[in-house]
Amino acid sequence: MPRIALIPGDGIGVEVVREARRVLQCVAAAEGLDCELSDWDMGADRYLREGVTITDEEFRALDEDHDAILLGALGDPRVPGNEHAKDILLGMRFRLDLYVNFRPCVLLSPEMSPLRDASPLRLEIFRENTEGEYTGMGGSFKTGTPDEVALEENIATRKGVERIIRAAFEFAVSRGRGRVTLVDKSNAMRHVGGLWRRVFRAVGEEYPGIEQDAVYVDAMAMDLVRRPHRYEVIVAANLFGDIVSDLAAEITGGLGLAPSANIHPGRNAMFEPVHGSAPDIAGSGRANPLGAIRCVGLMLDHFGHGDAAARIEAGVVESIRAGCTTPDLGGSLSTSGVGDWMVRHLEASYASPR
Ligand code: NAD
Ligand code: IPM
Ligand code: MN
Repeated sequence: MPRIALIPGDGIGVEVVREARRVLQCVAAAEGLDCELSDWDMGADRYLREGVTITDEEFRALDEDHDAILLGALGDPRVPGNEHAKDILLGMRFRLDLYVNFRPCVLLSPEMSPLRDASPLRLEIFRENTEGEYTGMGGSFKTGTPDEVALEENIATRKGVERIIRAAFEFAVSRGRGRVTLVDKSNAMRHVGGLWRRVFRAVGEEYPGIEQDAVYVDAMAMDLVRRPHRYEVIVAANLFGDIVSDLAAEITGGLGLAPSANIHPGRNAMFEPVHGSAPDIAGSGRANPLGAIRCVGLMLDHFGHGDAAARIEAGVVESIRAGCTTPDLGGSLSTSGVGDWMVRHLEASYASPR
């Protein structure tokens, strides 16, 4: 029985997780899957109310007493330093050692891409999730004076680099993808970039059937717009993967559609849409819940229920085809309206023989 912790978080995170939860319950009931869901009050409200972000006991419980986590988003204008998000979101990635950040960006319908050539496009990003510029190693000196110094170290370990590159190649082999591309900045960052290039070449030798290349991140930002169909599986360090995944999401239909999985294979997994808490639209009912709903698909796939995941993906495609979407995709439904539509559609699909 999968035990799933739900952390809606802040802003539209709360709104989209509400709909994802309904879809999960609907599919679990139809599939006879006994899921135990628990709701976790973590986010800016709790931080501002109690001064608590996430406790050691909560980390332990998330790790040991749960099989997966579904997160909405963290970020609130009332917490300008983003302290709670760093503790909770980056805390889970680091302390649960969720080193694979898998971000699939799949164009579901040609008219959704802002690009001219919108033939079928599937970009699958493997973002390193535990190192890079994100660890908080560094410091500042003479803060607030004209002589201020700030350091944010870029950490790359051989182990960390090797395991994400291997995960990308293993995925390519198991899912029949033809090419893995490394995105880096080794022309400027000699030490870290050099390590990534050497490990990519060494691991790549074990996968002679997969085409492999390396592209500098600036050139990649250009090429993803110019000829995205050249790329399939992309592997990148933490910061570059973050940036490239927003770009890849936008050219395949928009940020509101993009799901992600944070995984330590064989141990634990946390699923979250790629988007943030979107304070500009929070509370307006305009948030697209499909990214969060697709996270439920990724979660079910992770648990070995590929058919249920495919049914959710087919429902998302159908909602777009039918124009039953939120305004970001050109529709006029609200967040809960899309959730209602998805639940009705899935119930009908389970009721009729395939
Ligand atoms: P954002 O993703 O929240 O929003 C960027 C733009 O996309 C906004 O115009 C927003 O309205 C739109 N958008 C995002 N998701 C949407 C959806 N589901 N439906 C329709 N439109 C959507 O990025 P931001 O504005 O840079 O960040 C806002 C806050 O979220 C910040 O505090 C940031 O740190 C945080 N954040 C959190 C996560 C996370 O928890 N995983 C991810 C990204 C950003
Ligand atoms: C994401 C977000 C986070 C990140 C922020 C909120 C720290 O942008 O999940 O993509 O950079 O990883
Ligand atoms: Mn991001």
